[in-house]
Amino acid sequence: MANPSFNTQALKTEIRNALVNNKAFAGPIAMRVAWHSAGTFDKSDGSGGTDGATMRFEPEKSDDANNGLHIVRHMLHEVYEKYPQVSQADIWAYAGCVAIEFMGGPEIPFNFGRKDDDDGARCPANGRLPDAAQGAQHLRDVFYRQGFNDQEIVALSGGHTVGRAHQVRSGFDGPWTHNPLTFDNSYFTLLLNTEWTPRKWDGNLQYTDPTDTLMMLPTDVALLSDDGFRPHVERYAADQQVFFDEFAAAYGKLMANGCPAHVQPNAEAGSCPHAEKLNHEFREYAMHGSVHALKKIADQADVHEAEKSSGRNALHKAAFWGHKEATQYLIGLGLDLNAQDNDGDTALHDAVRYGHLEVSEMLLNAGADAQITNNAGEAVSAIASRYGHGDIARAIAAKV
Ligand code: HEM
Repeated sequence: MANPSFNTQALKTEIRNALVNNKAFAGPIAMRVAWHSAGTFDKSDGSGGTDGATMRFEPEKSDDANNGLHIVRHMLHEVYEKYPQVSQADIWAYAGCVAIEFMGGPEIPFNFGRKDDDDGARCPANGRLPDAAQGAQHLRDVFYRQGFNDQEIVALSGGHTVGRAHQVRSGFDGPWTHNPLTFDNSYFTLLLNTEWTPRKWDGNLQYTDPTDTLMMLPTDVALLSDDGFRPHVERYAADQQVFFDEFAAAYGKLMANGCPAHVQPNAEAGSCPHAEKLNHEFREYAMHGSVHALKKIADQADVHEAEKSSGRNALHKAAFWGHKEATQYLIGLGLDLNAQDNDGDTALHDAVRYGHLEVSEMLLNAGADAQITNNAGEAVSAIASRYGHGDIARAIAAKV
């Protein structure tokens, strides 16, 4: 993965919390948002795909195939508000990958760098996503247009190992597997080893198992009767790891179709602008107290730059973890002692909160302002007493 200027693990956690909480478990439908934003791609002219986040605009927004997906886009909007430097296009695509992982599936190769369009000028025409009522030829028409082959079509169809159909959204009903919140190869084992017959009901033609609890779409059962598709169903049913490997490759490609080169899964790590990467590294070294590494790149990096997602500079990072030598070095470089992060905390707030007496003294001696209050209205003396750091409280009192 390219080295973005924000903490991808923290972003992952935000996404997971937005999708899985006491009100919802939206892993499968988040995958569907991502795949529907990607699956409009046409390799003949490069139109469609995740770049642009065009599903926010008409006509894509109202494509019948995207029924109900706005709910997840709104759930993810909270993440976007916290990470405005990450595009919505990236957040939707990444959310699908994160969901696959936290449901037990493989890690998907992923790079950031998609952009959000300002309007719907690049919106693809509706009707590019697959119609579940059709068969093998239709699957080939839709997925070959995107640059996929038979093996990749089968691997991607395995996405139906999670989630379920909802009559109000698609006219189909029910889950594909017994554990629709777990990403495994049971879609293929069930597809292969169950007797699927047309369900007797007044809805769309779909297939049901003997207990009438599971379902398959016409496009799912088409994988069984087609000579080009079936061998892959058999391979994936026989070996989950093979499915995971081939699904991850196909899904990573799907998410990057139509995107610039630096977003492609095989793009070099660190393909984001060189300077941004160095500044990020500098803060990382500060966080780990690696003074040797800090000194090595200080000449080339903007040592003062604050992380966009948190407003924290290298001094915040060193002080937080109590790295004495790194703090002293950064003070010497002239970092802003009173810079406040997005929570209003200065480096001194961090040092005091976590009981780092010597680092607190270094900052105070260098002239850090102990009167500054953070967004919670607390100056460092209040934090020292709240956390019971009497020694630090005395050091602060001696300075103010
Ligand atoms: C092969 C052609 C495909 C067709 C015809 C198709 C069709 C459908 C339909 C009709 C639904 C039910 C929607 C609803 O009623 O809520 C659905 C759900 C779903 N699809 Fe597909 N799909 C296809 C490919 C894919 C791919 C490539 C993926 C991802 C790799 C995927 C992932 C999902 C997921 C996770 C759900 C469940 C959503 C939920 O639980 O709300 N599908 N699909």
